[in-house]
Amino acid sequence: MGFIIIASDHGGFELKQNIIKFLEKVYTSYTIIDVGVYNENSVDYPDICYNLICKYNLMKKNNQQDIFCIVICGTGIGVSISCNKFKNIRCALCHNKYTAEMAKKHNNANVIAMGGRILNIETAIDIINTFINTQYEGGRHQKRLDKIALFF
Ligand code: RB5
Repeated sequence: MGFIIIASDHGGFELKQNIIKFLEKVYTSYTIIDVGVYNENSVDYPDICYNLICKYNLMKKNNQQDIFCIVICGTGIGVSISCNKFKNIRCALCHNKYTAEMAKKHNNANVIAMGGRILNIETAIDIINTFINTQYEGGRHQKRLDKIALFF
C-alpha cells in the first residue's frame, strides 16, 4: 500500500493522463493522487511543482510511508530544476529504463521527472515499472545523499 502523487503542466498533460490510466489498472495497491493540471491550458511549471511538493511534504509530515512523485512537463527539464529547489527532494529526470534504475539504486529519488514531448507511453511505463521494482542500495550512496542534504 503506497501513494503516487502525479502532476504535469500542459506539456505533460497527455502523458500524465495515460500514465494515470496505466497506474490505476496495474498498481492497484497504490493510491494515485493527481494534483493537476486537469486540462491543456498553458500554465507555469514552477506552480505545478510547488503544489506537488507541498502535497508530498504534507503527507510525509503525517507519517505516510512509501510515497513517490511523478512530474511531467514538455522536456522534464523545467520540472526537475524546480523540484530540486526544495529541501529533501531528489528529483531525477528519467529518459529510459537505465536512468530510472539508477535514480532509485544510487540516488534514492523521491520524484521522477519525465518529458511529455519526448517519451511515448511505453517508455514512460518502462521507467515507472523499473523505478518501483528497484531497491535503493544505500551504503556508499547514503554518504553522498547526506552531503546533498547539507546544501540546504
Ligand atoms: C512549456 O511550453 C515547456 O516549456 C515546459 O513544459 C517544459 O518543457 C519546460 O522545461
